[in-house]
Order: sequence, then C-alpha cells, then structure tokens
Amino acid sequence: MTMTPGLRKFALTAHVTFSVGWLGAVVAYLALVVAALTSQDAQTVRAAWIAMELSGWFAIVPLALASLLTGLVMSLGTEWGLFRYYWVLIKLLLTILATKVLLGNMQTVSFLADVAAETGSANLGGLQGQLLHAGGWLAGVARNHDTVGVQAAGHDPLWVA
Ligand code: HEM
Repeated sequence: MTMTPGLRKFALTAHVTFSVGWLGAVVAYLALVVAALTSQDAQTVRAAWIAMELSGWFAIVPLALASLLTGLVMSLGTEWGLFRYYWVLIKLLLTILATKVLLGNMQTVSFLADVAAETGSANLGGLQGQLLHAGGWLAGVARNHDTVGVQAAGHDPLWVA
C-alpha cells in the first residue's frame, strides 16, 4: 500500500511534528525536574510534581503514541516498509521501548503528584529517578535521530547500530 505524494507529505509533516514535539515536551519536563531538584521551597517542588503529571499525561504520552502511530503509517505506507531497513526497525524498537518506560514511569509520577497535592509533602527522592528517565529518553531520541540522518544522507539500507 503506497501513499500518494500529497498524502505522504501530509503524513510526514504530522510524523515530524509529533516526534519532534515529543522531544520538546521532554525538554520542558526536564526543566520542571531540575527546577524542583534545585529548589528548597516545598511549594515549588509540589507544583513541579503536579505539572509533571499534567504535562506527562496530556502532552508527552499523546505525542509518544502519535509518533509511534504516524511512524507506522510512514513505514507501511511507503517503500521503506517496517522490516526492510535496520534504521526503521531500530526506530520502531526504541520508540516502543521509550513509550513502555514512559507509561510505567507515569504511574509513579501520578502517585507522587497525588501525594504532593493531597498531603502537602514533597518527595525529593523520586525526582532523581525522573531525571534519569527524562535524560535517558533524550539520549534514545538522539540515537533515533542519527538513524534518520543516515536515511537523509543516502538511504543506506545496511546501517547497523
Ligand atoms: C521519537 C521517535 C521518532 C522520531 C524523533 C522520528 C523522526 C523522524 C524524522 C525527523 C523524519 C524525517 C526524516 C527525513 O525526511 O529526512 C522521520 C521519517 C520517518 N520515520 Fe520517524 N521518527 C520517530 C519514530 C518513528 C517510528 C516508530 C517509525 C516506524 C516504525 C518511524 C518511521 C519513519 C519513516 C518510515 C520515515 C521516512 C518517511 C519518508 O521518507 O517519507 N519513525 N522520522
């Protein structure tokens, strides 16, 4: 099933918008984590946890799912396919892994945000884990981006990690 050129352009625009938007949302999330980590003010830390939960569920998770979905459309609707090139397969696996870790992580964030909202306590300990998750994700996307660079550089099907 191959897309028409117009549809392909539209789908690629959506794919890049969602996936790069995901990257931007994680940078903003990281800023919240760092602000809360370096703040001595309990109100700031509580506000950061609550903002992390909201930005996670309403920006990062939808963008992750949309990146995955539009990535699948780009693969299956073009000559790239899903299993023909290493870079597509690696993008797929990295994105699935990142989405899985993200969804697992959001359960913890929701729990701690509820604690922060209801009891007024600010869990500084959990933030170290958040920094690791967000930082790890950014590293993964940077790797993903390298594979895209290879594609742009010459559509090399023999690229390996
Ligand atoms: C964080 C995740 C992702 C990021 C940041 C990302 C980023 C990008 C970017 C920037 C492009 C445009 C490259 C260019 O035109 O030179 C692209 C294209 C593409 N992406 Fe992704 N992507 C992600 C996930 C995925 C996934 C999960 C798949 C599918 C399994 C996928 C499949 C594709 C395909 C097939 C193209 C080429 C489309 C074409 O040439 O028309 N991507 N991606």
